[in-house]
Amino acid sequence: MIPPNDYVFNLDPVRIPQKYPGKKYFKGPNAGKYSCNPLGKNPGDLWIIPNVKSNHVEKTEHPCQFPVGLIERLVLSMTNVFDPFLGTGTSIIAAVRHNRKGIGAEIVRGYVEISHRRIEQEIKERYSVR
Ligand SMILES: C[S@@+](CC[C@H](N)C(=O)[O-])C[C@H]1O[C@@H](n2cnc3c(N)ncnc32)[C@H](O)[C@@H]1O
Repeated sequence: MIPPNDYVFNLDPVRIPQKYPGKKYFKGPNAGKYSCNPLGKNPGDLWIIPNVKSNHVEKTEHPCQFPVGLIERLVLSMTNVFDPFLGTGTSIIAAVRHNRKGIGAEIVRGYVEISHRRIEQEIKERYSVR
């Protein structure tokens, strides 16, 4: 069993902008110092990320595809990826985008083919000479 405190959580790569970035203490012992983290705040429990609807740029024929941005936040804050319900390969795209290893399993051959196409496209764009 994994001890409850033995987990990975990398907060800095997933911070979101503060409501008042650059705000500093006005008085008191911390006057002049930042009153909140200049790298941004914790994304919290409610994540507002548009879902993949019909006119979304990432949309494929899959009926319940996740947005890459959602998985990127998980990949960045946690670790390498194993996705046993791969669908269109969104989780592996997020892994490739952030130099993580990723493996997945998918039961529908057509979705595996879509995954291959999307992952190959991501690798090509990421490692092409610019
Ligand atoms: C919610 S979808 C995943 C969508 C994916 N996150 C994406 O962005 O494309 C769940 C997927 O799990 C697949 N699936 C269901 N049962 C499975 C099984 N026993 N083994 C592998 N894949 C399975 C389904 O075919 C479906 O594509």
